[in-house]
Amino acid sequence: MSLEGKVAVVTGGASGIGRAISLQLAADGASVSVWDLDGDGAGETVDMIKRAGGRAIACIGDAAAADEIARSAARTREELGPVTILVNNAGITGFCRFEEITGDMLERMLRVNVMGPFLCTQAIIPDMLAAGWGRVVNISSSSAQTGASMMAHYATSKGAVVALTKTLAREYAARGITVNNIPPGFVDTPMLRKSPVNIEAESDPTKSPMGRAGKPEDIAAACSYLVSEAAGYVTGHTLGVNGGRVMA
Ligand SMILES: NC(=O)c1ccc[n+]([C@@H]2O[C@H](COP(=O)([O-])OP(=O)(O)OC[C@H]3O[C@@H](n4cnc5c(N)ncnc54)[C@H](O)[C@@H]3O)[C@@H](O)[C@H]2O)c1
Repeated sequence: MSLEGKVAVVTGGASGIGRAISLQLAADGASVSVWDLDGDGAGETVDMIKRAGGRAIACIGDAAAADEIARSAARTREELGPVTILVNNAGITGFCRFEEITGDMLERMLRVNVMGPFLCTQAIIPDMLAAGWGRVVNISSSSAQTGASMMAHYATSKGAVVALTKTLAREYAARGITVNNIPPGFVDTPMLRKSPVNIEAESDPTKSPMGRAGKPEDIAAACSYLVSEAAGYVTGHTLGVNGGRVMA
């Protein structure tokens, strides 16, 4: 899928799913701006893209803080050009009994997982409107589809991401901008490895029909499609990439 001449921002591109998406979009021809708090990881992603012959920069900052987003957006425009592809992937997770989730825990979750995509999209959408073309992909979570015990704050935040996706899809459909979301469920990344999830038990075919965890590249392939020209009539969609774990 050729993204030659296009500029993409991938938040959380220093690790896991975001890194795989950054590499994939660069391989598809886009110049990629990797936004992340983790400078070393973002630098590694950029190096990997450059070694493969692509073009990329790293913008180190909080993808949920308006001033830092504005700085990263300005630098991306200056060094790569206007942005017409945005992948809101940066996110945090947490596991806690519902009664024990504090206001601070909830606020932090909503700030990163909801305000992040909200503010990043606000910062970038003027470029898409000017171009009359744009692609936004939000990385949500299967927890928003099925619910997830011990993750009330996380699942609530990801449900909001799905609602934001559908709302923006309606608001911008007539102006050449599509907005879709991919809800991963069980993808082998540093986030999953740090969580209490038992990868072996979850890979059991009674839970995961394909008998394995997802790979970051599985999500990246779906993202590559959603940002392509070929997906121009797809908007407001939830594209499950989960090996059959969730059929909705
Ligand atoms: N791995 C899974 O099974 C799974 C399941 C459901 C949803 N997801 C979602 O997929 C996305 C990527 O997850 P992953 O598994 O690759 O996680 P990960 O922890 O490996 O990577 C997340 C990246 O986001 C960055 N990040 C976090 N907060 C940030 C902020 N405020 N500003 C900038 N960067 C920030 C981190 O530094 C990290 O590089 C997340 O939104 C996550 O909720 C993952």
